[in-house]
Amino acid sequence: AYPFYEDLRANDPIFKMSEVHNQTTWMVTRFKDVKELLKTPSFLKDFSKLYQNQDEGNVEQNIFSNMMLDLDPPDHSRLRKLVAPYFNPKTIARLEPRIDEIAKDLIHEMKEKQGPVDLIDEFAFPLPIIVISELLGVPPEDRHSFRKWSNSIVSASEGDHPQFSQDVKDFVSYLDELFERRRHDPKDDLISNLIQAEEEGEQLNHNELYSMVVLLIIAGHETTVNLIANTMYALMQHPSQFNQLKEDHSLIESAIEEGLRFYSPVDFSTARWVEDDRDFHGKTLKRGDVIFASLSSANRDEEKFEQANHFDLTRATNQHVAFGFGIHFCLGAPLARLEGKVAIQNLITSCPNLDLAPNTTPTWRKMFLLRGLEKLQVTL
Ligand code: HEM
Repeated sequence: AYPFYEDLRANDPIFKMSEVHNQTTWMVTRFKDVKELLKTPSFLKDFSKLYQNQDEGNVEQNIFSNMMLDLDPPDHSRLRKLVAPYFNPKTIARLEPRIDEIAKDLIHEMKEKQGPVDLIDEFAFPLPIIVISELLGVPPEDRHSFRKWSNSIVSASEGDHPQFSQDVKDFVSYLDELFERRRHDPKDDLISNLIQAEEEGEQLNHNELYSMVVLLIIAGHETTVNLIANTMYALMQHPSQFNQLKEDHSLIESAIEEGLRFYSPVDFSTARWVEDDRDFHGKTLKRGDVIFASLSSANRDEEKFEQANHFDLTRATNQHVAFGFGIHFCLGAPLARLEGKVAIQNLITSCPNLDLAPNTTPTWRKMFLLRGLEKLQVTL
């Protein structure tokens, strides 16, 4: 994908991907155009306004159409305000000791295994799902199913997923039960607080309650898996920088930022639709056209980043757009950064000889939404 994006940035930065029934789909690849797209209020997120296909009352269908990620103000602002306090850097910093404990436990279990292990399966995948489950208040015994549903929903973007609609149904019935339990016996967790907000009726409605929980799980899970795995992969591909990091742990945070820029976990899923006919850098956009922003491409733009195709964990200024930009800027960025930091800190401390398993070449999953590896076989 990277050479393709490079070519588009140079020759066709507002690229026409398709035209069907008078609706054109575009892709924006330059850093400054991506930022402009994401911060312009008349490039909208809520596609239901365009297609008017909402079937009110059916929670399963509405689960994806009531997420703040896909809404515009004022609904977006109302929902974001409701959960923002749980994700600010100060509140999130309090989770560090617990995340550290989870990372240590996973590494301990991983070390018990013989031979090469898949760092994704054994470490990068379980870590964020345990963290978000605890934050939401999902009981530990339910985590396994949770993991399956979350994975199924995200994988649906890869196209081939016959189980998808059954998994969504099972997920919704599970949430029905969990919400019922928390309604009768509230705990000190995010789900109990959201239920209370729903009961009070002003801040979020019934469908939005389901959508919020699903969003927090899916937006924060595979993305963080990929942050950990992609950054570790980049480090193992650059052994001298990996050694430099092992000797100087103060570089961990900048390694995470470079990992986010270099192998951005969200590739080009971020779409907007055009409210009114307009020009955009020489192209004529019509109302209802769809525009995708390629965050991966923006983060490799030479106009913004010197030697953009070069991984450099000491990069001084690194204002990438891996977490998006504007009003939808990732709410979970402080949590993702903390999980990434604690994960890598523990891996380099407890497994100083960690390396790619001999004779294995990790391959990227074939999905356009996210950038993640199929497997990351390593020796400890
Ligand atoms: C939004 C990336 C982790 C929750 C976004 C957006 C991006 C993004 C690019 C903006 C999408 C758009 O403009 O269309 C990432 C990456 C992550 C990560 C790369 C990990 C490395 C998390 C975590 C959580 C989370 C851990 C929470 C548990 C959200 C939410 C939104 C969002 C709720 C919607 C915000 C809004 O619409 O105002 N994320 N994310 N993300 N992210 Fe993340």
